[in-house]
Amino acid sequence: MLRAVELFSGIGGMHCALDFTDLIYEIIAAIDINPTANLVYASNFPNAPVMNRTIEGISLNQWEKWNADIWLMSPPCQPFTRQGKQEDLNDRRTDGFVHLMKIILPQLKAKPKYILLENVSGFEYSQAHQLLLDTLQAHNYYYEQYLLSPIQFGIPNSRLRFYLIAKQQEKPTDTYSSSILTRISNFERLYNKLRQQFPSKDLSLEENSFYENDQITDRCSHSSEILVQPDQSIYINDFLISNENQDFELNEKQLERGLHVCDIITCHAKRSFCFTKSYGKYFEGTGSLFRTLSNRIRYFTPKEIANLHCFPLNYQFPEQITTRQAYSLLGNSLSVFVVGVLLENLFERS
Ligand SMILES: C[S@@+](CC[C@H](N)C(=O)[O-])C[C@H]1O[C@@H](n2cnc3c(N)ncnc32)[C@H](O)[C@@H]1O
Repeated sequence: MLRAVELFSGIGGMHCALDFTDLIYEIIAAIDINPTANLVYASNFPNAPVMNRTIEGISLNQWEKWNADIWLMSPPCQPFTRQGKQEDLNDRRTDGFVHLMKIILPQLKAKPKYILLENVSGFEYSQAHQLLLDTLQAHNYYYEQYLLSPIQFGIPNSRLRFYLIAKQQEKPTDTYSSSILTRISNFERLYNKLRQQFPSKDLSLEENSFYENDQITDRCSHSSEILVQPDQSIYINDFLISNENQDFELNEKQLERGLHVCDIITCHAKRSFCFTKSYGKYFEGTGSLFRTLSNRIRYFTPKEIANLHCFPLNYQFPEQITTRQAYSLLGNSLSVFVVGVLLENLFERS
């Protein structure tokens, strides 16, 4: 059984990704400082040991006891985002990651055999990235780096992210690849599993809802290489809870502002913009809006965004979590499908 530690665990995207694969695993600790995220995590995984702690606050002794086989981590991305100040290692939000790289990994006797890291695209130009590679090389980890987005796999959502998978070798590796791969193979099994989770729904009754914008932006919304056949890319429709949803419709004032700056798609779209943590708060660049069959404009619901991230169907947000909080947590989270594919590739080669 694989002993996994989930660092910066948020709402458990990495946990869901492990679940999505056929790997036999146990989460021995999920660590995050955000009590709201931890509440959502714990309500979905009541048996997982969620720790409301800073990574820096965990003793080396505790790490030795955990004796983890794999570290799964999504360190905070704000120090590296284009919208942020890009303070990189000078941003205190990298402290947990730096602690892992400079103190824990070098000193730990029971080093994890595997590491998977997710972050924003742009991370690959940072000093934090260099620190990661230097640390992995110093401790004989072989690694591969990727820039991947769910839309490449036919999932109608753009979320270009940097990923690194690493495996410790017995002997030093003399060559390390600096290339960052933009395609990956060995995903067909998980794609078929995904289609069972989100089967094709009939669009025939909804032909009139076709909206020009769906196609135009289909052609220019991403530059990543599509890895599935055109007929394998999935309609937004298959991820919806229902087409209409009055509770999520924009009011007059929001419409006035939103219509000009927002990307709007229908159930016929095979794409959507990346949903950020500011979805529902600001319009521009935070995610797509949805045009219903009755021509109403609404937000995607948190559950629909969770679906687009390929979270399990039974994943829930507890009642006390507000919609805004759910958007924010989902915006920080990850594509369960893409991480699942990376995990399968990591273990395939083991
Ligand atoms: C990019 S999010 C990770 C999201 C997660 N992968 C998910 O699926 O929801 C980064 C997380 O790191 C947490 N965090 C930031 N600094 C931390 C620290 N020093 N120790 C522990 N958690 C920290 C934040 O609260 C946030 O939930």
